[in-house]
Amino acid sequence: MTLVRFAPLGLEGSPLEDETILDVARRAGAPIGNSCGGVGWCARCRVRVVAGAENLGPPSSVERAKGSELAFARDERLACQATVKGDVTVTTTYWGPLR
Ligand code: FES
Repeated sequence: MTLVRFAPLGLEGSPLEDETILDVARRAGAPIGNSCGGVGWCARCRVRVVAGAENLGPPSSVERAKGSELAFARDERLACQATVKGDVTVTTTYWGPLR
């Protein structure tokens, strides 16, 4: 079973086919900021991928443009755009330090 882990919250969820990190976070109760309805404009859903980056779908053109505009680090993704293909662990700046 594929799992998305939200660290350090201790929450996790299993994605349905082609779901995004944000979709799974909502079901798991992991609070990820968002104010554009998940269309890739607000970037409030910015997360850092701690493990399993290779298990995410490639960035959409919208995500690439936003990442370029905001100078995303290589391990940062938009949770509303990144589809889950395998196990992945993500974190945010507002969930507290990783343990
Ligand atoms: S929710 Fe707005 S960019 Fe992801």
